[in-house]
Amino acid sequence: MIKRILAVAALCLIGTTSVVSAENQHDNREAAMKKIGGAMGGLSAIAKGQKDYEADAVKASLTSIKETITVFPTYFPPGSEGDDKGASPKIWENKADFEARAKKLADDADALLAQLPADAAAVGAAMGTLGKDCASCHQQYRVKE
Ligand code: HEC
Repeated sequence: MIKRILAVAALCLIGTTSVVSAENQHDNREAAMKKIGGAMGGLSAIAKGQKDYEADAVKASLTSIKETITVFPTYFPPGSEGDDKGASPKIWENKADFEARAKKLADDADALLAQLPADAAAVGAAMGTLGKDCASCHQQYRVKE
């Protein structure tokens, strides 16, 4: 009897988690990418001289990019392929490559944090490095909606 109750409880749990995660991934993915886009926007304003160079602001943007891209691949669990149109089915076929591209961006942001760009021109150069990482993943795995 107890076994039976446990089995039923386990089934309920499996049922709810899969429904919840299936519903949530679109928002998670979009929010993460918007956050990364916002951080890049902050760096861009400094690089273009629209905002004064501030080491703390540069650090905050790089940290946000690094932390957000580190969790980003967890928003693509098996079975969540249909959650949004922007994510290519190729992500699930090449999960290791997708994760490697995310890690490349995290590592590049990390390296920049270790040697913080010291002026607006250096921030511009840093954006060039990071921008290549965005493009390399988007070309492969982002579907233009
Ligand atoms: C590991 C892969 C990967 C990397 C690296 C990556 N992106 Fe993305 N990005 C995606 C995918 C996949 C989507 C589509 C997500 C969706 O529609 O749910 C996306 C979508 C976006 C969007 C649109 C979000 C929306 O409103 O729907 C923006 C903005 C964006 N990325 C910015 C960036 C920037 C800026 C960088 C680099 C600093 C970057 N991304 C790096 C995979 C990546």
